[in-house]
Amino acid sequence: MTIELTTAGDRCALEARHGSYHWGDSLELLAGVPDGSVGAVVCSPPFEGTELIADADRTGAAFLSWLAPFFEQFRRVLRPDGCVAFELGGLWLSDAPGKAVQHAGAVHALAAAGWRLVQDFYYYNPQLLRPEPGGAARAADSVTPIWVMARTHDVYYDVRALEQPARQPFVRGNLLEFDTSGPYDQAYERALVEAGLRPYADRWPTVVPELFVELLTRPGDLVLDPFAGSGATCFAAERLGRRWLGCELDRGLEPHVRAMFGALAAGTGPQAG
Ligand SMILES: C[S@@+](CC[C@H](N)C(=O)[O-])C[C@H]1O[C@@H](n2cnc3c(N)ncnc32)[C@H](O)[C@@H]1O
Repeated sequence: MTIELTTAGDRCALEARHGSYHWGDSLELLAGVPDGSVGAVVCSPPFEGTELIADADRTGAAFLSWLAPFFEQFRRVLRPDGCVAFELGGLWLSDAPGKAVQHAGAVHALAAAGWRLVQDFYYYNPQLLRPEPGGAARAADSVTPIWVMARTHDVYYDVRALEQPARQPFVRGNLLEFDTSGPYDQAYERALVEAGLRPYADRWPTVVPELFVELLTRPGDLVLDPFAGSGATCFAAERLGRRWLGCELDRGLEPHVRAMFGALAAGTGPQAG
């Protein structure tokens, strides 16, 4: 499969065969997405929203206010059987050697607003360890939850995606042990290093969104990533023949998205799945 990337217009950063990646605030982009058109939202919002969380607000009230409008839009644009798969873990507090529970508060608030928890996954991610808070000795944070939530329990969920032989070493029930050793990730990292840039620390290994795109959508469905970052979800959707829409605030990530999509042109073969 060949993917041609072109720059089109100010806000549309990249176009490929099945989708487009846009710059800007995804709330603005979402406002233009038709009702009931999205098969799945697959994303990783910033865990803190727009500000670090301090001990005085350890339950993350400001974070919840920031997150809620996105889920109002997700509710509108999702098909009735569609899911939101979002990675959202706890955070070290910015000013104390302890943790915020804004993720637990968010999931609780979403449930109270009518969202159903289809399933929680746990992503073991030793590559993205954060420094310990304020020099205090604590176990390293190395697991983040990926919540799959929906408007009903009657969702599209293709369990065969979890059972694929190539994924068996990495999928242990709902514990995922993916890392960035796959060929697409390696090609992305090589391209970044050649350009004198560092790989995007907050990105997903390409196999993470690949799994959720296969699990929650059929070929031809529309996949949305409103926090698109390096474009890993968009890239997975493109390769899996799903239509997709990505949006990202930080235009500085353009070389990353190009490197991500360039991983195909680099002649890498198929990976897990
Ligand atoms: C955790 S990163 C996502 C990483 C992504 N999953 C990947 O694999 O590269 C969160 C991203 O959301 C972006 N972001 C935050 N608020 C946004 C908004 N309102 N609209 C679009 N992007 C936003 C940030 O700039 C950041 O790149």
